[in-house]
Amino acid sequence: MENLITKVAQEILKAKRITALTGAGMSAESGIPTFRDKGGFWEKYDPNEYAHINTFFTNPEKPWQMLKAFDKEVKAEPNPGHIALAELEKMGYLNEVITQNVDNLHQQAGNTDVIEFHGNFRRALCLTCGRYYEMGKINLDVLPPRCECKGVLKPDAVFFGEPIPEDAFRRAHEASQKCKLMLVVGTSAVVYPAASMPQVAKQYGAKVIEVNPEPTPLTGYISDYIIIGKAGEILPGIVNELKKLTGCST
Ligand code: OAD
Repeated sequence: MENLITKVAQEILKAKRITALTGAGMSAESGIPTFRDKGGFWEKYDPNEYAHINTFFTNPEKPWQMLKAFDKEVKAEPNPGHIALAELEKMGYLNEVITQNVDNLHQQAGNTDVIEFHGNFRRALCLTCGRYYEMGKINLDVLPPRCECKGVLKPDAVFFGEPIPEDAFRRAHEASQKCKLMLVVGTSAVVYPAASMPQVAKQYGAKVIEVNPEPTPLTGYISDYIIIGKAGEILPGIVNELKKLTGCST
């Protein structure tokens, strides 16, 4: 494992452009359940019932009930994995993070270029007038919450059956084409089109490196290496190794 971390740190030093693609496993150590692991979100909430755009239009209370319960239970903060990715950016190695997560934790950790592939649950928008609201400022006593114009508010996240926001898709695709190394962290890589980004990176000549406690469909096929382990342990390990290799102590 240590050898692999050194190898990856060396690859990072060689690569001139690095992109990270992250999924729910990135935030697992912040106390946010993943979707498909044991005890994951989709075990508790049927995605067709709670997270499909058609349900939202017919029964908007449902997704809001899930969100309200989640908001009450989880007060998540960035974990050492998020902090390590922010540090990689500050050290000048990481260009952008493409995230499937809607929890805003990369932004909170300090990454300045975060491509929100599936939107962001920290915002909601009015489906009638288009006004945006900060989630923390919305009154969730009566569901669904409504705008001042009386329109229904929708969390600004991508529901099943909805397209990826155009700008996020374009930027993610460009980043995947341009990067020389893609770090794929904490995603099962089964949801498309996000899962196609490592394939694009590979096709354009990048090294693809996974960090995950479990192999994924990318392992041994698209990825060059997988470091088996938790993001909150492996990513700080890579940052420390980079500091050792470059003689940088801060
Ligand atoms: P999944 O729940 O499908 O996969 C989570 C991945 O994280 C798995 O591969 C785990 O092995 C890994 N994992 C668990 N703990 C970890 C840790 N501490 N460190 C690193 N990895 C860990 O989540 P996603 O791949 O993000 O979409 O799912 C993709 C999309 O499916 C989500 O964005 C969401 C969902 O339906 C929408 O809601 C549109």
